[in-house]
Amino acid sequence: MATPLSARDRLIVALDVADCASAERLAGMLAGHVGVFKIGLELAMSGGIDLARELAGDGHKVFLDLKLLDISNTVTKAVENAAGQGFAFLTIHAYPAAMRAAVAGLGNSDLCLLGVTVLTSLNAADLVEAGYSDSPEALVVKRAQAARETGMGGIVCSPQEVAAVRARVGDGLRIVTPGVRPAGSDTGDQKRIATPASAIGSGADYLVVGRPITQSADPIEAADAIVAEIASAP
Ligand code: C5P
Repeated sequence: MATPLSARDRLIVALDVADCASAERLAGMLAGHVGVFKIGLELAMSGGIDLARELAGDGHKVFLDLKLLDISNTVTKAVENAAGQGFAFLTIHAYPAAMRAAVAGLGNSDLCLLGVTVLTSLNAADLVEAGYSDSPEALVVKRAQAARETGMGGIVCSPQEVAAVRARVGDGLRIVTPGVRPAGSDTGDQKRIATPASAIGSGADYLVVGRPITQSADPIEAADAIVAEIASAP
């Protein structure tokens, strides 16, 4: 059973900005106000992996959101190289073979591998277009079950599927939800969304929030308001 998390620990800020200088500025501002810094593909392409190492070296929790998917040998070797560098989380697309390969590369590292079930920017019509016959929820639950069976640390899904995933996999997997939007904020390209309180109330362990914090006129105030909403969620 996982250890309890504080409201602040549960807020992951997505540092989706174009360059490391902007990301460092945001991280400096938000340190102590959020639990985890997430570095994804945008920043990874402009030096973000070195920044991730620096932030981890300074004692911050860092989430590398690289959404790995490749042949098993490549995934295993990539995870072997990431493990032991002090990162807290790393994402793998939740295909069973890729998740098995990722877990095989983990060794004794306490890096938490997260399976990305179905991107929160996809809706039912997008899945049909991509050739799937399952609804988003059915596919998310199927992939969450596979994540559990392959020994992953957690999964990423939309807030709308958290309750169904929890019912299927129990408390053993960490559930991380992007697609979180405080009431009244812009949805952007996200399609399966919920408010922070509703995502936490459904059973999410961690919330990933990007633009509502990073594009706010006052990122600290925006982060603090979300932490307060997490703390008061039912
Ligand atoms: O700006 P916003 O709050 O929409 O950012 C959400 C973050 O979560 C982005 O970094 C995005 O890449 C990530 N993410 C997502 N949906 C997933 C997995 C990750 O939106 N299924």
